[in-house]
Amino acid sequence: MARIDIAVIGGDGIGPEVTAEAVKALECAARLGGFGLCCRHLPAGQDALRTHGSALPDSTVRACLDSQAVLLGAFTGRSLLTLREQLGGFASLRPARFYQALAENSPLKEERAAGADILVVRELLGGLYYGEPRAIDRHAGCAFNTMRYSREEIRRVAVQAFELARVRRQKMVSADKANALETSQLWRETVDAVSASYPDVAVQHLYVDACAMLLVSRPREFDVILAGNLFGDILSDEAMVLTGSLGMLPSATIGGKVGLFEPVHGTAPDIAGKDIANPLGAIASAALLLRYAAGRESEARAIERAIERALDDGFRTPDLGGGARMATTQEMGDAVCKRIG
Ligand code: NAI
Ligand code: MG
Repeated sequence: MARIDIAVIGGDGIGPEVTAEAVKALECAARLGGFGLCCRHLPAGQDALRTHGSALPDSTVRACLDSQAVLLGAFTGRSLLTLREQLGGFASLRPARFYQALAENSPLKEERAAGADILVVRELLGGLYYGEPRAIDRHAGCAFNTMRYSREEIRRVAVQAFELARVRRQKMVSADKANALETSQLWRETVDAVSASYPDVAVQHLYVDACAMLLVSRPREFDVILAGNLFGDILSDEAMVLTGSLGMLPSATIGGKVGLFEPVHGTAPDIAGKDIANPLGAIASAALLLRYAAGRESEARAIERAIERALDDGFRTPDLGGGARMATTQEMGDAVCKRIG
């Protein structure tokens, strides 16, 4: 029997609570798909700091590099950045979609947002956040950063985005600021060059400011959005408002040695240990893991459909505003599992 080997890091705060529900969903999906699942639970975070003297022990990093995918809850502090660096993923994937059952949670009008389903692909290791030189010159009273992209950095993330668009709705918007920035001109040229290998995908270049506007006024028109580190950071957060709750959102970081799958939210210390955290972002991240790290599209969809059905059937954690069936973290996880299949 085929088997998927996953490194599981609960981390801090609500991380372990929501990750446990994501693992449960993976187990249900494995039964459905008839494949094996081996989850190695690894020490990391504040507990590991006490027991192993490091929030990200070397043994944990090695075990992650040895697995097919990493499923993560959330971290306090900088361990996440270290882990990301070690895994080497350069494409950050942030799906955002409108859930009919949560229409009231979305700040966007239902008639505009209904059916919206967007995937933001953000370049994660280059651009303004890493470019040198950078400095604050306090004496001169000025500061500067460098936005720098090589053709290769643009090419590899563009290839990822085209591959993703190809198996979605074959539409891609590349967001840049080519009217003001040379980096964006190279970005555009390179995306066009890559697009020659993907004649089935329709590409549109948009200036990032126009893209930001259209994203909330006509969200349904988007499929995949490709952007560099700075613009992608902003656009991915903007796209998230569609869903209406931070607890719902999954993410994937791919392109490196091992893919990293985690909910977008942090450790939520204010609600940790109360069994009230929304596990759906973590569970949806498990679906992304099956899709992008294991090629298990039909089981990934089964999890996503189950999330939708649980919401349609009225299950709500408190962050979703309560409802007919107020659910704890575990009850929500169980409701999803029952609907996988
Ligand atoms: P946060 O995402 O932890 O919490 C923001 C607000 O959203 C809080 O009111 C929280 O209760 C709520 N919330 C978050 N996830 C939820 C869920 N699943 N269900 C219900 N409510 C949820 O962000 P915050 O407060 O800025 O950061 C807290 C800690 O998390 C910090 O130490 C920060 O560094 C860390 N963090 C870690 C991240 C990661 O590991 N990927 C990402 C963001 C923050
Ligand atoms: Mg951000």
